[in-house]
Amino acid sequence: MEIDIDTIGEEIGLFEAIRTTRAIRRIKPDPVPPELIRKVCEAGTFAPSGGNRQPWFFIAVTDADKRAHIAKLYRQTFSRYIEPARKAAEDPAYQDAKRRNMNAAIWLAEHLHEVPVHLFVAGWTRRGRPQSQALLPAIQNILLACRAVGLGASLTTSHGAHQREIDDMLGLSEETPSIALIPIGWPIGKYGKPPRRSVDECLFFERYQERKADQDLPPPQ
Ligand SMILES: Cc1cc2nc3c(=O)[nH]c(=O)nc-3n(C[C@H](O)[C@H](O)[C@H](O)COP(=O)(O)O)c2cc1C
Repeated sequence: MEIDIDTIGEEIGLFEAIRTTRAIRRIKPDPVPPELIRKVCEAGTFAPSGGNRQPWFFIAVTDADKRAHIAKLYRQTFSRYIEPARKAAEDPAYQDAKRRNMNAAIWLAEHLHEVPVHLFVAGWTRRGRPQSQALLPAIQNILLACRAVGLGASLTTSHGAHQREIDDMLGLSEETPSIALIPIGWPIGKYGKPPRRSVDECLFFERYQERKADQDLPPPQ
């Protein structure tokens, strides 16, 4: 596939991209050009950060052995959710959207080694503490940029239980811990509008007021 890095993804409207960026976890094993990874990470570098410190580092892992090892560790953490999740998904009362989401998360855990790019987002600590909040805007920019260029991506943190071992493999020190893993590749499915609460349930002017609808919503997952 011939890709023009300068033009790919430049046409999509901002609001269309925002509304149709959902977690794409089913990914083909086909390789992704490094220049395209550079392009989506460059979008990450335009994120805001406290004091404009720009604490981020992006480590793109494509080596098959390393990906297999990362996937094994990710599965070790995720496995404790798999059986309860499968059981919950079998319950007829379980909402379709949640079932699809859970099945996709299980698929990712089982196929992570096949996903061609494991993009880790790491950042300088502040007063000895990792700064997830300083990195999340960069991560969201990367997810939006992936959507724009047609790459599938999702935000994951389940590598966290083995973060030190993984960071050693990536050459990251305790001063620059990884906080997220974004598996990236060409999607098997399609981007589309994700299930979300209506803005009218979430938006208030001047003062928050409890609404009946809040009580009817399922508890957050
Ligand atoms: C802080 C954070 C951590 C997450 N960790 C994981 C994860 O480890 N594995 C995973 O499959 N999804 C993870 N997700 C993705 C969410 O589950 C996903 O955004 C949610 O299911 C909504 O999906 P949708 O955008 O397709 O509707 C994480 C999301 C956030 C914000």
